[in-house]
Amino acid sequence: MNKQQVVDQLLAGQSCQAGQDSGEVFAPTNIALCKYWGKRDATLHLPQNSSLSIALPALGCWTRISVIDAAQDEIWHEAQCLPVESGFAQKISAFLDLFRTREDYHFKVQTRANIPIAAGLASSACGYAALIKALAQLFAWQLSRQDLSILARLGSGSAARSFWSDFVVWHKGLRDDGMDSFAESLSIDWPEFKVALLMVTEAQKPVSSREGMQRTVKTSPLYRIWPTKAEADFMQMQAALQARDFCTVAAMAEQNALLMHATMQNAVPPVDYWQTASVAHMQTVWALRRQALPVYFTMDAGPNIKLLFPAAVLDQVRAAFPTLQLAN
Ligand code: PMV
Repeated sequence: MNKQQVVDQLLAGQSCQAGQDSGEVFAPTNIALCKYWGKRDATLHLPQNSSLSIALPALGCWTRISVIDAAQDEIWHEAQCLPVESGFAQKISAFLDLFRTREDYHFKVQTRANIPIAAGLASSACGYAALIKALAQLFAWQLSRQDLSILARLGSGSAARSFWSDFVVWHKGLRDDGMDSFAESLSIDWPEFKVALLMVTEAQKPVSSREGMQRTVKTSPLYRIWPTKAEADFMQMQAALQARDFCTVAAMAEQNALLMHATMQNAVPPVDYWQTASVAHMQTVWALRRQALPVYFTMDAGPNIKLLFPAAVLDQVRAAFPTLQLAN
C-alpha cells in the first residue's frame, strides 16, 4: 500500500473543494518518554513498537495554508519565502501532492515555530501535525483526531502524537495499511510533571532520524532486543503514569532513551548524536540523583537534553542547570 491509497481511503466522502484560507492553526511539539525507533513499513512510517510522549503545549508550530493562483507552491518559513529547490520546500510540496484534489491547486504555506528545526526537538512532529490541521480546515474535512493522526504520520512518524496537549500513546498497530497505527491521549492531568530543555546546540543534526533508524534496524545487533523491550516499557509506563509514580516513569524514560541510543551507537557506522556537553549534562543528572534529587533525562535524535523532574524540585534543578529552559 502506498501513501496516496491511505489518503484516498481516509478522505473518501470528504470535500475536495478547498476554501480560500485555513486561518492559522497550532500544533504542540511532543517528547517521547518511550521512544519510537525503527519502522516495520518505511513508506507508511509504521513503527516497530508503540510509543508514549508528553506534549509541550507552549512549544510548537503555527501554520496557515491558502490556495493560490500560481504555477507552483509557495512555502514560507519565519516570514521568508523559501527557494523552490530548498530541501524544506521540496519536502512540504511532495507531502502536499497527496492532498491536491485538483491538478491546478497550488498552495501557499506559511509556517513558524518557536523551536529550532531538525535539532532533536521534534520540529517535524509539530510541523506535519500543524500542516494536517491546516489542510483539514482548508478543505473542511470532517475527520476524527485519530484519522488526522494517521495522515500526519505519513509526513513524520512522531507527528501522529502532536494532536493533544498531555500524555499521548501511539499504537504501533498490526495492519498493513496502518489504519490501526494512530495516537490518542491518555487524558492524564499531571501538571507537576516537568520537562526542561538543556540546549547543547541549535544546529541541524548530521544524520536524519529517518536515516538513523534505517541504519540501526539494518546493522545494529543490539537492535534485536529493542522492539520487545520498548513494548514492555510502553505497557509498564502507562501503569506508572496512571499511578502518578514520578520516579518510575522518569527512570523508565531515561533507561529507554539510553537503550535507544545504545542501539544506534551499535550500528555500522555508528549513529551518534552525543556531544561532550550532552554527556556532561547526563553525568550531572546522575550525580544529583546520588544526592537523592529526583531528576532524570531523555534525549532524541540530536544532542540536546530534556530534563524530567517534579515541579517541587525546580529550584534545586535550576541551581544545578542555570541555563535550563522550562518547557511545560
Ligand atoms: O518522527 P521522526 O522520524 O522524526 O522520528 C522521531 C524519533 C525520536 O524522536 C528519536 C523518537 C520519538 O519517538 O519521537
